[in-house]
Amino acid sequence: MEFEEIIRKRTAVRKFSDKKLEQEKLDKILEAGRLAPTAKNSQPIKIYVVKSEEGIEKIDKVSRCRYGASTILIICGNKEEAYHKGEYTTYEMDSCIVATHMMLEATNLEVDNIWVESFDEKILDQLLNVNSFFEKIF
Ligand SMILES: Cc1cc2nc3c(=O)[nH]c(=O)nc-3n(C[C@H](O)[C@H](O)[C@H](O)COP(=O)(O)O)c2cc1C
Repeated sequence: MEFEEIIRKRTAVRKFSDKKLEQEKLDKILEAGRLAPTAKNSQPIKIYVVKSEEGIEKIDKVSRCRYGASTILIICGNKEEAYHKGEYTTYEMDSCIVATHMMLEATNLEVDNIWVESFDEKILDQLLNVNSFFEKIF
């Protein structure tokens, strides 16, 4: 897909089919995240892939916004590992850039996607043992 077409086609999808995401496509999406820039190249991001039945059940306790998606990526940024100066830290920016890269690659591969911020971070930490400071689901 041409880049212009990708950015025009990307849209928040709120109804997903049962179709499983192929591993090859998932690998490409994760690779797009890996190649994203981070401040000082600190790469303070961890991405959890949730696709097991058990994991999906837990996700549904954490957020109402799964919309039937069969694969969830939880993007976590580490405040300490990110570039920081006093209180200022780039972990949120770094996380957002990684997420955006992955969404655009997903769209390029015709994989529907949505960025979701509405979730309970405490329950997420408890259920999925996510050990980080900043999380997003999409
Ligand atoms: C930071 C961020 C958080 C979002 N959180 C949610 C969310 O919790 N639930 C949801 O249904 N959509 C969420 N969205 C999707 C937006 O509502 C959607 O991207 C926006 O309405 C624009 O539509 P478009 O993506 O189709 O252009 C989020 C998008 C962004 C960028």
